Amino acid sequence: MSTVVVLEPACGIAPQASAVSTPIRIALLGLGQIGSAVAELSHRGQTVRVTGALVRTPGRARGSHLPRDIAVTANADALFADDPDVVVEALGGIEPARTLVRDALLRGIPVVTANKSLIARHGGELLDLAAQRGVPLLYEASVLAGVPFLGTFARRPHAAAITAITGIVNGTTNYILSSMRTERVDGATALAEAQRRGFAEPDPRNDVGGIDAAEKLAVLAGHFGFGRVLPSSIETTGITEIVGLDLEHAGEFGGTVKAIVHAHRIAGSVRAFAGPAFVPSTNRLSHIDGVENAVILCGTYGDLCFSGPGAGPAATAATILDDVIAAARGEGWRSTDARHPTIPDVPVEAATTGWFVRITGSSLPEGEEIADLLGSHGVWLRRASAPDTRQGIESRYFLSYPCAKPRIDRALASLSAATDGSTALALRTLES
Ligand SMILES: NC(=O)c1ccc[n+]([C@@H]2O[C@H](COP(=O)([O-])OP(=O)(O)OC[C@H]3O[C@@H](n4cnc5c(N)ncnc54)[C@H](OP(=O)(O)O)[C@@H]3O)[C@@H](O)[C@H]2O)c1
Repeated sequence: MSTVVVLEPACGIAPQASAVSTPIRIALLGLGQIGSAVAELSHRGQTVRVTGALVRTPGRARGSHLPRDIAVTANADALFADDPDVVVEALGGIEPARTLVRDALLRGIPVVTANKSLIARHGGELLDLAAQRGVPLLYEASVLAGVPFLGTFARRPHAAAITAITGIVNGTTNYILSSMRTERVDGATALAEAQRRGFAEPDPRNDVGGIDAAEKLAVLAGHFGFGRVLPSSIETTGITEIVGLDLEHAGEFGGTVKAIVHAHRIAGSVRAFAGPAFVPSTNRLSHIDGVENAVILCGTYGDLCFSGPGAGPAATAATILDDVIAAARGEGWRSTDARHPTIPDVPVEAATTGWFVRITGSSLPEGEEIADLLGSHGVWLRRASAPDTRQGIESRYFLSYPCAKPRIDRALASLSAATDGSTALALRTLES
């Protein structure tokens, strides 16, 4: 491994070594949006050098902005044979990322990854391997990529006695819902604009379906010691059912609808969800708009809020390079901490929350009748909107007191049966 370097603080420019030393040599796995940005940023300074990059199609023309001395290959063995100081995994997905990260750790090479899918699903096993080998595995850029905070808490387990995590961790859906509210456009128009501006993937299903958010929540739950939470065990809902009217009526109730992730610990289990939720304006997440992300960590010593860019190649590359420098210094997050030998599996349950309910139909009963019917199932209402009729379809909105999900589901199914097929949507509500 090359000489450890000491960095001067740099304002928005590439890192410069303050001591003359050999640059840290990186092997990049992936030279797409993130890999290219890492290559560009590292070659603006002298601290880090990208020696080679693994790609799927080496023959493809790459941008002229990329440094020319990077060896582009489809052969991972050739990259490893070059004995890099740090491997940066920016492939995305599970395979071959998982196998290559394992290979690097087994060879004693520190790894930095931005891959939330990999850490969410295989973080436990990979961190165990890293700990056994005494090799850093850092993943700061996998959640809130432009807001480095995971490393801080890994070094400060007492300050990080976190009991609940609540956040907005997907910029695409936050942009869409913000546009629907402020520009009064429909979801499809907001998504098209997000794609035009580079805030959404050409295939947006992982974002709008809530999968990306659930993976990030799983990473956070593992990182903050809640236990190993598989994304598939988290109740996950997309934003595709949300319409402009929902945002209007949420506003009337003193809040808005945001794509939220939430997890809290309760006696040996975790209660969690990822999906659109009513957020009252007294909760600071209601003011996080556009592509901005935020996470509120509720801890023994009060709430801590982190907000800023959640993605974007430049911000992500800067976070990755900081991890690279830490990894080259041998600074692992868990490898030296005997308190975190492995991440144990933890059961995940549905949370009990209040509900923001929309009921739609061509001839709905009076509000009191609806309240009585829902009350007969143990769902008690605390706010009700006036009937809102547009193009012959009536919508009514309610806020309920907290109850378990099966209870609200049963109550709404019964209402639908009693009202000749009214349809209902129930979103969880956050507290102030
Ligand atoms: N984009 C962001 O703003 C952002 C922010 C935070 C974290 N991330 C994470 O960063 C990672 C990379 O994202 P990205 O946006 O850079 O992806 P991307 O643009 O699709 O790039 C993926 C790169 O990996 C290479 N690759 C993919 N599969 C491969 C295989 N089987 N063998 C060899 N090479 C392979 C591709 O090669 P070719 O070039 O030959 O196709 C490409 O260079 C993901 O885990 C993502 O979640 C992204």
